[in-house]
Amino acid sequence: APAPLVDRFGRVHRDLRISLTDRCSLRCTYCMPAEGVPWLPGPTMLTTAELVRIASVGVRLGISEIRLTGGEPLLRPDVVDVVRRLAALEGAAGRPEVSLTTNALRLPALAGPLRDAGLARVNISLDTLDRDRFRSLTRRDRLPQTLAGIAAAEAVGLAPIKLNAVVMRDVNEDDVVPLVRYALEHGYQMRFIEQMPLDPGHTWDRRRMVSQAEILDRLTAEYSLTEVPGRGSAPAELWYVDGGPATVGVIASVSAPFCGACDRVRLTADGQLRACLFARSETDLRSIVRQDGHGAGHAAGDEAGPEVDADVDARLEAAFRACLASKRPGHDIDDPAF
Ligand code: GTP
Ligand code: 5AD
Ligand code: SF4
Repeated sequence: APAPLVDRFGRVHRDLRISLTDRCSLRCTYCMPAEGVPWLPGPTMLTTAELVRIASVGVRLGISEIRLTGGEPLLRPDVVDVVRRLAALEGAAGRPEVSLTTNALRLPALAGPLRDAGLARVNISLDTLDRDRFRSLTRRDRLPQTLAGIAAAEAVGLAPIKLNAVVMRDVNEDDVVPLVRYALEHGYQMRFIEQMPLDPGHTWDRRRMVSQAEILDRLTAEYSLTEVPGRGSAPAELWYVDGGPATVGVIASVSAPFCGACDRVRLTADGQLRACLFARSETDLRSIVRQDGHGAGHAAGDEAGPEVDADVDARLEAAFRACLASKRPGHDIDDPAF
């Protein structure tokens, strides 16, 4: 087997996060402006064949987990086919686990087909159980549909279901306990996330952020928590609730970053590889997989014999390694100079 995807700090990369589209059916304030963003033009988006090819190189290099994200990944029309093809890839460590992070709105229609295509599990964003609050936070009145989507995932056996809530000052702080109660009733794992500076208006302020410590204060006022050992490279730190077996998690990306154990690399919908969510540079895989600028005059399909194909895979492998060689030790968000 080829050498694993290791960076300068000895971190072995096994987790590939693939954005299937930059579009979304919600407009969460911490993520997008009301009007959306200038969407990627169609021709710059990876086709499914291109995406699967890049992923297959990653899997051969030791990627064992593939997570589909967005925007909202279920807006990609052929998402079921994408899952089927990714789940069938084979690497040194066998087939990858394919999972998805979604807002759940299309799960009533897609949960069954996705499971049949080989999807292992879903993580679902749910920031509040209050309908008015949901409407102002996501700028869409879709709480009932979101809850129906969660129920659909459960009904087809996509387990375990993890729910993600970004906790925001004066917005949904007092949803923490009700969300845990809801998750406990249904057998889901609730996870609370420190807000990261990814909002379009750049209004994020470290001093206003609701920290892990505050989230835990709210939880321990209601429940007894005992730490779950063996976190590995997971972003969430987990606690048993009232003795278990149910658990609750906190993702403290800002106050207690998990960068030291990071095993993730990301592929954008337009074919750029990023060593970190906060990377300042990208590695262009799209032009490699399309063979743009490789022997002028070669149209796609032209002379695409076995040597050219092997050459593309070798160049994709080199690009994966070069991208990780640029990976920094951490994200510096908590640095006052950020
Ligand atoms: P599991 O495999 O189920 O543990 O998935 P996950 O928690 O890694 O994935 P999910 O897409 O549900 O992400 C949950 C949250 O983790 C996101 O909202 C982010 O806050 C955080 N997160 C995910 N990936 C990264 C990353 O690369 N860097 C940082 N700083 N945070 C991340
Ligand atoms: N900070 C933290 N988490 C965020 N997410 C989106 N934007 C942010 C942010 N600024 C979360 C969503 C979803 C996951 C894909 O990322 O809540 O659960
Ligand atoms: Fe962003 Fe996800 Fe909300 Fe869509 S559902 S606006 S992608 S955070």
